[in-house]
Amino acid sequence: MSTFVVLGAQWGDEGKGKMTDFLAESVDLVVRFQGGNNAGHTVVVGESKYMLHLIPSGILYDDKLNILGNGTVIDPEALFKEINYLENLGISVTPEKLLISDRAQVIMPYHRLMDNLSEKSRTDSIGTTGKGIGPSYTDKAERSGIRMCDLIKPVVFKRKLAENIKIKNELLVKIYNAEPLDFDEIYKEYSAYAEKLIPFVQDTSVRLYDEIKAGKKVLFEGAQGMLLDIDYGTYPFVTSSNTIAGGVCTGTGIGPTMVNGAVGVAKAYTTRVGEGPFPTELTDATGDWIREKGGEVGVTTGRDRRCGWLDLVILKTSARVSGLTNLVVTKIDTLAGLDKIEVCVGYKFNNKVIDYFPASLEDLAECEPVYETFDGWGEEAAIAKTYDELPKNAQIYLERIAEFTGVEVSIVSVGPKRDQTIVVNEI
Ligand code: GDP
Ligand code: IMO
Ligand code: MG
Repeated sequence: MSTFVVLGAQWGDEGKGKMTDFLAESVDLVVRFQGGNNAGHTVVVGESKYMLHLIPSGILYDDKLNILGNGTVIDPEALFKEINYLENLGISVTPEKLLISDRAQVIMPYHRLMDNLSEKSRTDSIGTTGKGIGPSYTDKAERSGIRMCDLIKPVVFKRKLAENIKIKNELLVKIYNAEPLDFDEIYKEYSAYAEKLIPFVQDTSVRLYDEIKAGKKVLFEGAQGMLLDIDYGTYPFVTSSNTIAGGVCTGTGIGPTMVNGAVGVAKAYTTRVGEGPFPTELTDATGDWIREKGGEVGVTTGRDRRCGWLDLVILKTSARVSGLTNLVVTKIDTLAGLDKIEVCVGYKFNNKVIDYFPASLEDLAECEPVYETFDGWGEEAAIAKTYDELPKNAQIYLERIAEFTGVEVSIVSVGPKRDQTIVVNEI
């Protein structure tokens, strides 16, 4: 497989950063196609731990080209903060290693403000990361957004910013009762970012197409997860982009015939940050035990992650909507020590058992998870180097995942480090 996407198959934080880093070794390009600095991808290399939010995880290698595709939303302030963070750790971030699509949308200060204000004004808040993601995609769809190609042209930027500030200030003052923004201040600050961005910005669709045609290998790095997808997630408790495999084409400017595979990453259990439904959530001591053992705290917001049993209805839905060719199951080591482990294999709904995720949250609220019980396994899971070295009960668990979803489990992760990765079948 020479071009493939690595996707979250649940509600995000499945270990995509680790898997992208692991799989990136054998590719030439790593490309983000959606989302922004709402993501938090942790990569452990040797004794060092890196937290990436916006920049593709391939940046940790010297010889990979990383791209932020047109489907991403980019906050220049956050981008340069992340570049500084990496450079302070000895990782260079140059235009030879990172390119930004000229069509990517720019997150402006008013997007961050609106994100927080609209959260406060909602009856049921979403629990967003507050990074301005939703308002930025709103402006894109509304056709008032500022793209990278606009930001780096002073005359265009000035005109578009003036139009935006006029409208946003009306909203800020009249609807939200907040302070208006100062055009000059923002223009000055963002013009300085624009200067620094120029060498990174180009038509990345053209570059990507040429690289693929030349036989280069590409890994598309997903952010968030299937259930945070704007169309297939638990709407409205979702992010504002297409996190599923379809997002690769619209978010990078290549056709579906150029994407050879889709690798879904799933934790051995389920977590979620922010509000919204979660059928297999454990609000009891077992949930606390998983959170504690798995270190389930958000990378971007520091919030505790909600924890629950593995939900195979979710994985089956992911397999369908993203056409998954392979599955990666992470954190098998975290569950070690539990006597019994439950796995959801259907939802009881209207006197039937369904194996797909319903659109309506009202229907979802009526769904009652149907569980299968598995025997637990011991701590030797964390030191297994091969599939055969995994505890037998962990193997039974993994085989059930593959059987239910119809997708082979190609990689099993038993710890955060690169060498705690068991390749069952080469991807
Ligand atoms: P991402 O957003 O999908 O990249 O995932 P996050 O980085 O937000 O969260 C995953 C967390 O689990 C990180 O702290 C990883 O270092 C860690 N991790 C990844 N795979 C494993 C694993 O197999 N076992 C354990 N114990 N931790 C893992
Ligand atoms: P990674 O890539 C987990 C969640 C937020 C909130 C909802 C909308 O690390 O898996 P947004 O700021 O995007 O408008 O928030 O989506 N969310 C994530 N949850 N992992 C992420 O990214 C997330 N990015 C956004 O908590 O519920
Ligand atoms: Mg994360």
